[in-house]
Amino acid sequence: MPRIVFLGPPGVGKGTQAARLASELHVPHLSTGDLLRAAVAAGTPLGLEAQGHMNAGRLVPDDLVLRILSDRLAQPDAQPGFLLDGFPRNLAQAERLAQITPIDAVLSFELPAHLLVERLSGRRICPTCQSVYNVTTQPPRVAGQCDRDGTALIQRPDDRPEAITTRLAVYAEQTAPLLGFYRKLGLLRTVDASGTPDEVARAVRVAIR
Ligand code: AP5
Ligand code: MG
Repeated sequence: MPRIVFLGPPGVGKGTQAARLASELHVPHLSTGDLLRAAVAAGTPLGLEAQGHMNAGRLVPDDLVLRILSDRLAQPDAQPGFLLDGFPRNLAQAERLAQITPIDAVLSFELPAHLLVERLSGRRICPTCQSVYNVTTQPPRVAGQCDRDGTALIQRPDDRPEAITTRLAVYAEQTAPLLGFYRKLGLLRTVDASGTPDEVARAVRVAIR
C-alpha cells in the first residue's frame, strides 16, 4: 500500500487531488492544514497557538505540527498507507518524517504563480464538511452554498491577499528546498497541475504507477 507525499505551493490543488486519490486507494488523506484548522475550530490549546501563524500565512512551529501529525499517523487506518498533504514543509520536518515512516513516492505539483493566486483568491470552503470550491473554476451548484449540505461557504482567512503573498514567499524559502532533498533520494515525481481536475487526476495516476 502506498505511502505518498503531496508537495507543492499553496493553491496548486493538493487537497483537491489528495481527496480524490485517497478515496480511490482507500487510504486516509492526512492534511496538516485540515488537522490544524480542526484544532482551531475546536478551540484546543494547540489550535489557539496555531491560529495566528496560520492566518498570517506563516508556518506553524514544527513541534506543534509534529505533535498533531504523529498522533494522526499512529492511528490504525494509517498503518496500511496514507497520502500526506502539506507535510513536510521544511527540511527539519522531512528529516523527522524519515525517522517516523518510510515514504514510497513524493509527487511535486507544478503551476505558474499567477494561476496559484487565481485559484487561492477564488477558493471558498464549507465550514461544515470542508468541501472545497472555486468561484471561477469549481463553482457550487447554488452560488455561495455547499452542494453537500447547503451550508453558506466561507473564505479561508489565509486566502486574503496579504496572507497569500506571505504563503508564496514561505513556500519558496522553506518548502521548495524539499524538491532537491527528495530528488536526491530518488522519490520525486512531477505532476503538471495546470489542467482540469480530471486531467490532473490522470497525471497523478501516471505518476504513482
Ligand atoms: P494548508 O492547508 O496545507 O495550505 P496550503 O499548502 O497553502 O495549500 P492550500 O490548501 O492552500 O492549497 P491546495 O494545494 O490544497 O489547493 P486546493 O486543492 O485547495 O496549510 C495552511 C496553513 O497551515 C499553512 O500556511 C501553515 O500556517 C499551516 N500548516 C499546514 N501544514 C503545516 C506544516 N507541515 N508545517 C507548518 N505549518 C503548517 O485548491 C485551491 C483552489 O483551486 C480551490 O478553490 C480549488 O477548487 C481550485 N482547484 C483545484 N484544482 C484545480 C484545477 N485543476 N483547476 C482549476 N481549479 C482548481
Ligand atoms: Mg489544501
